[in-house]
Amino acid sequence: MWRSSRFFVVLIAFLFNTVTIAHAAERLGIGHAVSPQDFAAWDIDVRADGAGLPEGRGSVAEGREIFARVCAACHGEKGEGKAVPGAVGGFDRLVGGAGTLDKASPTLTVGSYWPYATTLFDYVRRAMPFSAPQSLSNDQVYAVSAYVLYMNNILPEDGVLDAKNLPQVKMPNQDGFITQDPRPDVKSKD
Ligand code: HEC
Repeated sequence: MWRSSRFFVVLIAFLFNTVTIAHAAERLGIGHAVSPQDFAAWDIDVRADGAGLPEGRGSVAEGREIFARVCAACHGEKGEGKAVPGAVGGFDRLVGGAGTLDKASPTLTVGSYWPYATTLFDYVRRAMPFSAPQSLSNDQVYAVSAYVLYMNNILPEDGVLDAKNLPQVKMPNQDGFITQDPRPDVKSKD
C-alpha cells in the first residue's frame, strides 16, 4: 500500500512537471521551430569565391558619401585609421601599405594584405559600423566596399560592384598566401 501510494505521488509529480514545463515554454516563447525568415537573418556568410553574395549594387561615388558619414569617424577621412588614447593599435587603417609586406614592420590593410574582396563585403556587412553592425543595406555595403577598394587603387573612380563582378576583383596580395604546406612529408621509421 505504502509502495503504491509513493508511486502514485511520483507519477502525479511527473505529470505536473511535464505540463508546467510545456506551459512555461509556451508562455516564455522558447523552443519553437526556426522559421525560414529567422534562419535567413543569420545565414549571411559570403565565401571567398562569392557564394552567398546577395542581390544589390553600389558605386564608388555612393560609397564615398556613406564612408564620410558612417565610417570616417573611426577609420579617418581617407581610411588612414585613428589612434585611440590609451589603447594599443587604435581603429584600423584600411588604406595603404602596398609594398610593405616584406618589410620588418609591414602595414597590413584591406588593400595590402587581404586576399579576397568578397571578404571585405562579408566583414563589413556582418560587423561594421562597429557601433551599429548590420545596419547598412546590401546596396550600401556594396557601395562602401567599392569605395574602400577605390581608396586602395584597386577600383577606378567610376567603379560599381555587384554579386557578379565583386568575386572577379583581383586583390594585390591574393597570391601571397601559402595554401599548401611546402615542407616534405617525413615518415617515421617504425
Ligand atoms: C565606432 C567605430 C567604428 C566605425 C564607425 C566603423 N568601424 Fe570599422 N572597425 C572598428 C574597429 C574597432 C575595428 C576592429 C574590430 C576587431 O578587430 O574586432 C574595425 C575594423 C574594420 C575593418 C577590418 C580592418 C582590418 O584590417 O582588420 C574594416 C574593413 C572596417 N572596419 C570597415 C569599416 C567600414 C566600411 C565602416 C563604415 C561602414 C566602419 N568600419 C565603421 C571601428 C569602427
